[in-house]
Amino acid sequence: MAAQGHGAISRKAGALSGAAPAPGDKSISHRALIFGALARGTSRITGLLEGDDVLRTAAAMRALGAEVERAGGAWRVDGAPWRAPDQALYFANSGTGARLVMGAVAGAGVGAAFAGDASLRARPMGRVLEPLRMMGVEAKSRDGRLPVEILAGEGLTAVNCVLAKPSAQVKSAILLAALGASGETQIHEPVLCRDHTERMLAAFGVALDIKDDGEGGRIISIAGGQRLTPTDVSVPGDPSSAAFLTAAALITPGSEITITNVLVNLLRAGFYQTVREMGADITFENERTENGEPVADIRVRHSVLHGIETPAARAPSMIDEYPILAIVAANAHGETMMRGLEELRVKESDRIASVEAGLASCGVDVASGEDWLLVRGHGQAPKGGALVKTHHDHRIAMSFLTMGLASNQPVEIDDASMIATSFPEFFQIMSRLGGEIIARQ
Ligand code: S3P
Repeated sequence: MAAQGHGAISRKAGALSGAAPAPGDKSISHRALIFGALARGTSRITGLLEGDDVLRTAAAMRALGAEVERAGGAWRVDGAPWRAPDQALYFANSGTGARLVMGAVAGAGVGAAFAGDASLRARPMGRVLEPLRMMGVEAKSRDGRLPVEILAGEGLTAVNCVLAKPSAQVKSAILLAALGASGETQIHEPVLCRDHTERMLAAFGVALDIKDDGEGGRIISIAGGQRLTPTDVSVPGDPSSAAFLTAAALITPGSEITITNVLVNLLRAGFYQTVREMGADITFENERTENGEPVADIRVRHSVLHGIETPAARAPSMIDEYPILAIVAANAHGETMMRGLEELRVKESDRIASVEAGLASCGVDVASGEDWLLVRGHGQAPKGGALVKTHHDHRIAMSFLTMGLASNQPVEIDDASMIATSFPEFFQIMSRLGGEIIARQ
């Protein structure tokens, strides 16, 4: 693995082949730790993503009173009543960890301060603090960003709210706070986003009522005062991480790989639907249900691809995959127009700007607007041959290293350290499949 602040380079090295597992799903891993810590008793987690983001959440759960330990190949979480931590909870690069734990802390009635790295300190937290304040939570923040302090308080009130943006982090924070509120909280989600919190709360014995709103959305109701029952969780592979391996095989001639044990929940599968529409030869094999989530092995072959338009309505189901989709598009024939991307401006970096600058420096014809990105491919390998700035963003780093596998000249990135937040085995797995990606020492 690349050390902090060191770059990496990738180059053409022929076809990819073989099979590899995707690392554990990041969203489900955070939730398994938080829910295990809220339950009284022992929960075991297998397949946990041991990336930096998730390990920060594990440390936060310890600071809040839970015992969290790696025991053999699994993780053991012993939940206990939460207590105020001695120091600020430090979430480094992780928006998911910070935002979900804000809701959980509020629901548990304890106070805590929240801190993060430069990337996380630049990201909006008001979207979580506003609904929490509506529930009676007292929260301090100078400008709606970190550092944030949630003050200890009891007697939260249930709310009836509409999710202004399709954000699973905001939805989850409200649901977790609602556990400590009196009365029934109702969340109207007009546009669906990932539902791992709802699925896993149910697995931990919490009663939720989920109804269609008749217009493609859902209304989720949850009564306050419910306790979580300890539960064992097996974490499936992350479709967002698997997307880099999928893209690598799609754009590298002669490739055929299988990525095993990948979560294929429809609310996470927009990337796979999109590349199929572009002509990708992808099959989901051995489809099964594990812990209430659909899982499959994904077989990918190198494919001749054509550009398409991705509708704004699909964005929530592939929100983290646009950087790697842009790389796929740069290798396709014709234009790919991606719409509905406004949330990309507030991810680990401004991903529209990071992708546009990186592609342009690699000789790709690209244009953007406030909420769209247009990539023109010529059905051949892009030039490459640039040093790309990653802006503390793991997905920008992995996207451009993937691009270098099929570019005419190598692609270098300035900083590979953030890859460890979500896909610590990225270098090993790419190299096992035959990709030539080298971390600079
Ligand atoms: C996540 C939700 C998404 C996603 C993030 C993980 C989650 O963020 O981008 O990587 O686990 O709930 P938003 O809720 O901001 O859309």
